[in-house]
Amino acid sequence: MKNTLDSRRRVLKAGLASMVSTLPAWSALGGCAAGGASAPPMLGFTAVPVSKEDKVIVPPGYRADVLYRWGDAVGMAAGMPAFREDGGNSAEEQALQAGMHHDAIELFPLSESRALLAVNHEYTDDGLLHSDGMRSWSAEKVRKSQAAHGVAIVEIAFDGSRWSLVRPSRYARRITASTPIAFSGPAAGHALLRTAFDPSGREALGTMSNCAGGHTPWGTYLTCEENFNMYFSNAGAVPVDQKRYGISAAGGGYRWHEHDARFDAAANPNEPNRFGWVVEIDPLDPQAKPVKRTALGRIKHESATVTLAKDGRVVVYMGDDERYEYIYKFVSRGKFNPSDRAANKDLLDEGTLYVALFAKGGNGVWLELPGTPESLVRARQAADAVGATKMDRPEWIAVHPGNGDVYVSLTNNDRRTEAEAEGVNPRAKNVYGHIARWSERDGDAAATTFRWDIFALAGEDKGFANPDGLWFDRRGVLWIETDISTSAINRGPFEKLGNNQMLAADVRTGEIRRFLTGPAGCEITGVTMAPDGRTMFINIQHPGETASERSNPDEPRAVSNWPDFRPSGRPRSATIAIRREDGGVIGT
Ligand code: FEO
Ligand code: CA
Ligand code: CA
Ligand code: CA
Repeated sequence: MKNTLDSRRRVLKAGLASMVSTLPAWSALGGCAAGGASAPPMLGFTAVPVSKEDKVIVPPGYRADVLYRWGDAVGMAAGMPAFREDGGNSAEEQALQAGMHHDAIELFPLSESRALLAVNHEYTDDGLLHSDGMRSWSAEKVRKSQAAHGVAIVEIAFDGSRWSLVRPSRYARRITASTPIAFSGPAAGHALLRTAFDPSGREALGTMSNCAGGHTPWGTYLTCEENFNMYFSNAGAVPVDQKRYGISAAGGGYRWHEHDARFDAAANPNEPNRFGWVVEIDPLDPQAKPVKRTALGRIKHESATVTLAKDGRVVVYMGDDERYEYIYKFVSRGKFNPSDRAANKDLLDEGTLYVALFAKGGNGVWLELPGTPESLVRARQAADAVGATKMDRPEWIAVHPGNGDVYVSLTNNDRRTEAEAEGVNPRAKNVYGHIARWSERDGDAAATTFRWDIFALAGEDKGFANPDGLWFDRRGVLWIETDISTSAINRGPFEKLGNNQMLAADVRTGEIRRFLTGPAGCEITGVTMAPDGRTMFINIQHPGETASERSNPDEPRAVSNWPDFRPSGRPRSATIAIRREDGGVIGT
């Protein structure tokens, strides 16, 4: 065991060393929040125009290579089944392949030229997943759908000009909607988490609706369970706790409950309590059981962005992506130990959970939540009780690497009324969304007060709408990814904005420049970079999506056949790797 631990430590050290080696840091570039005339320009690429084309478009001098598509074998020793473009792969084969609908992505360096990627597979389009879509329905199809959800760990290597998958890899792994996952923290074992399948309340089966994510300073991956309610059906009288999280008789149309009793929320009322958590995964150890960290609360998690307080405590920022929901912050009790990886293993199990109050005029307060098992399972109700600020769908949260300012994308809220439009959510019928930010008091992430302002109101005049993915690179460039819904895209007020896209912002000047446009019917999500800043990895989610969100299996290419462009093929969500032809740092 000691050998394994030692080698893991060496690997981690090498990885961390390479993370800080070659890229000019924020401070080296002389950046500061105030900017100033002498600050060198942060953005050096030529903006791309809006696009309705079925392809990825990047600036002149850049290229985008497809790296990891739905159905690609992840490289597990158990098997590497080939993708069948007619939807014919079995559930067992799907569990060894990339899932559908890639979302968050994080990179864990192994060396200068090797790394692990953790990728979320958020949900499925069952019209594309099975040969005949959902026309017939069976337990096998439910199993395949569950196998196409969750998370993948894949290994990648750089050959001097491009990255590719390493297969087989001893790190390769799929975590699906049926993988055993431990509960830890205050709510583990509580009555609200006990079910007929797990009387202990300490082991969930699976993770799903894995949307945004994060990573810890000790090199683990955090995946966020977002729209878990869509997988459940409750045909009876829906209890108030289930209603508060959106559980209904109809569900989201996944039809899992028809062949898997776990997802019948009338028969198994506590099963929904076992989703809506942040799950921690150790990408370096394929045997390590993932852990649902209950101290971080149960919401429709979007983002678990980690930073450190001045005294070394671990701070996690989290959004709850629904209209009128809240922004949360967890502050650990213990401190990060940079010299002993194992010592950090359970830091996310003990601490204080706060929810944000944005007062009018720019002041803000972090309101402490009780932290009892009940209030963590019912975090939304706990936040209601303290009077937190109802936001316009908080999605990703990003921390500026230089000054610690925190940025959040508020993707939209078309229901906000004139009377409710004020302060940090200033627009009624907010169809375009906005980006807000705050500075913690004294620049300390553990502070309980802050000052906030609006960074950008999206709109046709700004050239983008519905900011979702949000991420700072090491230079301090803010990358913005958009998710205009397919029912709205290229229509009405969004007509001039084209397909979903990615932009770069210089937060010192407020300039926002379009960097990339995606294929038809996609959203752009997930973003990270290689440690040297010379490769960017992003995800193209649901290319070819139609307004119904479930494709017609007879017309799989009705909107898109990206990325394979095969006449008989189906559109496939995929990770792409973006590089400059001259090998330079992305964005400069
Ligand atoms: Fe899965 Fe809130 O986007
Ligand atoms: Ca999102
Ligand atoms: Ca979406
Ligand atoms: Ca979204």
